[in-house]
Amino acid sequence: MRRVDDPTGTRAASGWLSARVPADFSVSTPDGGYHVSVFPAETLEWMDAREGRFIIDGTLGGGGHSELFLKAGARVLGVDRDPEALAHARVRLAPFGDRFTTWQGNFADLHESPEIRQGERADGLLLDLGVSSRQLDSAERGFSFMREGPLDMRMGPASRHSAADIVNAWDEADLARILFQLGEEPKARRIAAAIVKQRASRPFTTTLQLASCIEAAVGRHGRTHPATRSFQAIRMAANEELESLAAALAAAPAVLKPGGHLLIITFHSLEDRMVKRHLRHHSAPFIDDPGWPEPKPNPDYQFELLSRKAILPTDGEITLNPRARSAKLRVARLLEPAP
Ligand SMILES: C[S@@+](CC[C@H](N)C(=O)[O-])C[C@H]1O[C@@H](n2cnc3c(N)ncnc32)[C@H](O)[C@@H]1O
Repeated sequence: MRRVDDPTGTRAASGWLSARVPADFSVSTPDGGYHVSVFPAETLEWMDAREGRFIIDGTLGGGGHSELFLKAGARVLGVDRDPEALAHARVRLAPFGDRFTTWQGNFADLHESPEIRQGERADGLLLDLGVSSRQLDSAERGFSFMREGPLDMRMGPASRHSAADIVNAWDEADLARILFQLGEEPKARRIAAAIVKQRASRPFTTTLQLASCIEAAVGRHGRTHPATRSFQAIRMAANEELESLAAALAAAPAVLKPGGHLLIITFHSLEDRMVKRHLRHHSAPFIDDPGWPEPKPNPDYQFELLSRKAILPTDGEITLNPRARSAKLRVARLLEPAP
């Protein structure tokens, strides 16, 4: 496995991809348009998927990454909060027989899966964060500001609140905070005020009702829909996405074998910052403080960074899959215990 240390930013280049990635490899997978996996070749390479290895795909989605690991000979546990994703992937990956199993749950709770409870540990764990194209495009799931549907946005039945619960009940200050923090929406306060004013006479029940309230509050400028950032923020809040990620990062060492690989694909700066800071701290053998006479051993030293910088998509991948534009892949290896 090559370590990528590129001070200009790590842009995945075909040169370092191993011979195991087929020459005719394409990012579009034959999954009936469910979802196009990002970083397919890089994920396969860094996961080191092969016969005899057990991999947990913590974000199964359409099953694209899992299929790559299965084709490379690995055994895969596919995890998702969304029963619809699990049902789809079970059909798609049925040809791999009992090398593919599934568990419905939050990747934050992987320790509750039967495999981990029975003492199994994984050679690799993948988290490909966010929602799938299928979830976004299904009007009835309520993720899209372009399609009329119930204002739901829950990835799975266990999510505690729907988008409607949030916009109809949260304080104006809390709404403004999530729109600003999770959506990086500069007009967060104006949008929060408009939501609170409108819900007083007519609570929100549909996606287009919310999208048009936001558009009326801030107007439409440029090509991006004015509700884009707000919908992202409300989705992240409804599914407690940052909380799940923090819990999964903390739990990963208990799920992996020593030497196991952790691969995380982010699409949002807050998620990437959380992953970067966590892995940076947990891969430092020593910690230092200006008040200390000398650096001290880091009690949290657990990982080795396999790629010091985030791996970014190639221009070719972005052309084929525009969703990859904001994707970043970070890769670490759980340390072996000291002899
Ligand atoms: C970007 S898609 C994954 C696509 C997949 N890698 C593929 O190649 O088709 C993300 C998936 O992860 C699931 N998901 C997101 N957060 C989750 C969590 N905390 N626990 C379990 N599943 C989660 C979503 O329901 C969605 O199906």
